Amino acid sequence: MKVEEIKKIAVMGAGDMGHGIAQVALMKGYKVALRDIEQRFVDKGVQGIKNSLEQFFVAKGKITAEQRDEMLNRLSTTVSIEEAVKDADLVIEAVPEVMDIKKSVYKELDKFAPADAVLASNTSNMSITEIAKATNRPEKVVGMHFFNPAVRMKLVEVTKGEKTSEDTMQVTYDLAKNMGKAPVRVEKDSPSFIYNRVNAPVMLLLELILEKKLVSPEEFDGAFKAMMPMAPYELLDFVGIDIAYHSLKYLHDGLSPDYRGTALEQKVNAGELGKKTGKGFYDWSAGRPTIDTSKATKEFGLNDLIALQVNEATKLLDEGVAKSASDIDNAIVNGGGGFGPFQLAKGIGYPELVKRCEALAQRFNVGVFKPTDTMKEGKIEV
Ligand code: 3HC
Repeated sequence: MKVEEIKKIAVMGAGDMGHGIAQVALMKGYKVALRDIEQRFVDKGVQGIKNSLEQFFVAKGKITAEQRDEMLNRLSTTVSIEEAVKDADLVIEAVPEVMDIKKSVYKELDKFAPADAVLASNTSNMSITEIAKATNRPEKVVGMHFFNPAVRMKLVEVTKGEKTSEDTMQVTYDLAKNMGKAPVRVEKDSPSFIYNRVNAPVMLLLELILEKKLVSPEEFDGAFKAMMPMAPYELLDFVGIDIAYHSLKYLHDGLSPDYRGTALEQKVNAGELGKKTGKGFYDWSAGRPTIDTSKATKEFGLNDLIALQVNEATKLLDEGVAKSASDIDNAIVNGGGGFGPFQLAKGIGYPELVKRCEALAQRFNVGVFKPTDTMKEGKIEV
């Protein structure tokens, strides 16, 4: 299939990511079918699209009310998978990050989507190869991972499962470009792909700090607030503590037993999921939280986070998950991370970052934090 042949996109799941992706497709001229399991979830998603179009585009004079209406006219909604996908050229699945749920959706997609339709998963972490096993067309199954907020963030990771065809990779990559995004190819299907994998040890550090009650989220965030669009715990709240918790569990099973999420699990069990429930580490009920930077800790600094990111990024190179260091840097920049880890490492110097990794590995007794040989050699070209 060529990208010009894609006219209709079906999106499975109308949550934060699903409705955001649907909006991106609508804004780029595609017909979109949005499906969720219950009408109230569908309605919430549609309201999310309407609010976003109003707040970020019409009110700012970026589009007219007529353009908005034309976009919304291309949107259809349903609770039936069959109805949503029967005439779709490409399906983007954004259902909960639970393998059994994914597989049951893919069984239905395989049954009802046209034979040549591409089936793309927005999964943050999970194996595309495994998801594809629920279908009789694994060559058509691919990763297409957007970042939150999907309307704003440029990165889309396009992941090759073991059986994904080159045609499927290319059309998905081209579609992401047509959607105004900056796609990056993930050459090997590996837990958390590129962006989330580079940030995985940082997420583990946040978990361990909570477990050991070393500093409070606000004291930690206070140290980083001025340097990033969102401070680390604030970002966990924004993305969803449940999402982070599921990621840590998946990484525990798929990558290293060092990953764990007991402190985050407590928040999930208490129903404190972050922005979407109004409360997580912070109170979001009145909008974005204010972080008191006067409480900033001096125990952790930016180089600790950069060291963990660069170290994990070297593993992606060693394992052949990403083609090049600049692909990784671009992914991090376009996914919301601000700067590419390898560019930063060039400025800071590898010996300093190696020292930080060693100190963190020892302090927390975590193998994942130990510097790799590639890191110690420090000869990565960008
Ligand atoms: N949708 C669309 N546009 C948005 C938006 C949204 N939800 N929120 C903000 N914007 C736009 C605003 O309209 C504004 O645009 P303009 O410059 O053209 O006027 C611009 O973004 C800046 O907005 P604000 O000044 O209101 O607020 P901020 O500067 O704080 O930006 C933010 C908000 C873009 C969300 C910024 O805080 C940010 O980049 N945060 C980090 C997000 C991030 O890292 N995402 C990746 C998370 S990891 C992930 O998604 C992986 C997955 O697997 C879970």
